[in-house]
Amino acid sequence: MTSLRLPTFRAAVALAAFAGCFGTAFASKDHPVIGLSLDTLKEERWQHDRDIFVEAAKKLGADVVYLSANSDDTVQVRDVESLISKGVDVLVIAPHNGDAMGRAVKDANDAKIPVIAYDRLIKNANIDYYLSFDNVKVGEAQAQYVADHLPAGHKARVVRIYGAQTDNNAVLFKQGQDNVLGPLIKAGKIEVIHEDWATDWRPDAAKKIMNAAITKAGSNIDIVLASNDGTAGGAIQALIEEKLDGKVLVTGQDAELAACQRILRGTQAMTVYKPLKTLASHAAEIAVAIAQGHPPVITDTIDNGQKKVPAIFEKVVSVDKDNMMSTVVAAGFHTADELK
Ligand code: BGC
Repeated sequence: MTSLRLPTFRAAVALAAFAGCFGTAFASKDHPVIGLSLDTLKEERWQHDRDIFVEAAKKLGADVVYLSANSDDTVQVRDVESLISKGVDVLVIAPHNGDAMGRAVKDANDAKIPVIAYDRLIKNANIDYYLSFDNVKVGEAQAQYVADHLPAGHKARVVRIYGAQTDNNAVLFKQGQDNVLGPLIKAGKIEVIHEDWATDWRPDAAKKIMNAAITKAGSNIDIVLASNDGTAGGAIQALIEEKLDGKVLVTGQDAELAACQRILRGTQAMTVYKPLKTLASHAAEIAVAIAQGHPPVITDTIDNGQKKVPAIFEKVVSVDKDNMMSTVVAAGFHTADELK
């Protein structure tokens, strides 16, 4: 009996190992297959998430089939449907638009495949877990940096670049920023001279917003409150063209390599480091545990409009040139050499 079953088991494992490339995934409890649906892989951040997730899952004996939707809701719904039809045990979804993924989650529910929303919440849907960072705190950290570095002697002239309006996180970042900026605006210490949302978090959209701000205000700009490193990069490009780079305080988020280099060179002031290793490894652990029939009990919850979803919120760290080595580098996120 054993000698008959062994080759079959081996064949299944080999096929599952190739599931990321093609064909149908063959899952077993010892060797589950996890479907990972990403909004995009264009930004460095999500490449890190994917790599860490795949590696962590592998260590736990699971395979990962991943697909990226290139910021397109129709494509992402189709991606999830394709992962369902491959027979994955668990779905991990980082949605482009948390409102638009309800349909895909419904399909997963019908197929009895548990769903973990990764980093971005999926609203009004029956998801099983949500893992993210404290996103309001991210916005607060960005705005607090601004508050701590206001220009002396005059009202600070601030440009605000928000993320994608379709991303629940972008709304939470803005909320956190508002918490800190609100009283300063009221007290007359800050004037927001231009603000807009960057479509799909695109750096070129951020550059356009910055160009519009420069057209309005000329060089009379003190601070650009950019919501992530990608949009900071776009804004800095516009500043470079006007020879204003290094003269304007620019915020960011994600501790992307290019952003950390800019911080050390002085064209960006800060970023928010989000330990992706912790987030992605926790997500992999939970996905494998669910697949193996041991869904973890998590007491923290978030209301997604349909239910109280068990949730984990990882901590974030504000980073500038002074603590770059003791945070991003010490954590091994980038090496000191890479930052040169
Ligand atoms: C993430 C950020 C990221 C942004 C753009 C947000 O949902 O939380 O880390 O920079 O999307 O991809």
